[in-house]
Amino acid sequence: MSETTHQQKARKAVYPGSFDPITNGHVDIIKRGMKVFDSLLIAVLENPKKKPLFSSEERVSMIQELFADQKNTEIKAFHGLLVEFAKNNDAKVVIRGLRAISDFENEFQMALMNMKLDPEIETFFMMPNLSYSFLSSKLVKEIFMLGGCLKDLVPKQVEHRLRIKFKNKHPSLNL
Ligand code: PNS
Repeated sequence: MSETTHQQKARKAVYPGSFDPITNGHVDIIKRGMKVFDSLLIAVLENPKKKPLFSSEERVSMIQELFADQKNTEIKAFHGLLVEFAKNNDAKVVIRGLRAISDFENEFQMALMNMKLDPEIETFFMMPNLSYSFLSSKLVKEIFMLGGCLKDLVPKQVEHRLRIKFKNKHPSLNL
């Protein structure tokens, strides 16, 4: 492999996650990642065991809608090992967001395990803006179900999809 080809591949990063649903914290990391890497592959975990609220197709299409005008981003669902997915997609970097110390232990374990599985893949940690450091998809779903305000927490399109999803799942809820 030539030096140039090698460098080109190093500039593509995978940003994996459950994205159930994507939050403004994820959007912040994606925007920051786009400044650092030439191209970003957003990888949506397909894991029926996790019983996501949104199917992987729905999660992919929500993210596609948000980044439709960004030529250097691609969104795909994946299953199996992340390092295999990254390798099969010519990416050598995995981006993960670190919100708080509480994220660290799990992220440290995953990064080291991924390094063991494939030492060629580097994990790149990015911190979201402080205003998103408390934000998670889990809390977003809980707040929405309990009638709280999602302003500044998720993009408008995501709030709309949440409304449709919960109306279909719980028709008696006044959302
Ligand atoms: O948004 P999440 O739920 O924190 O994302 C977790 C994710 C998708 C990054 C993680 O579960 C993952 O990489 N799954 C793929 C399976 C895998 O490769 N496991 C071994 C790595 S430790």
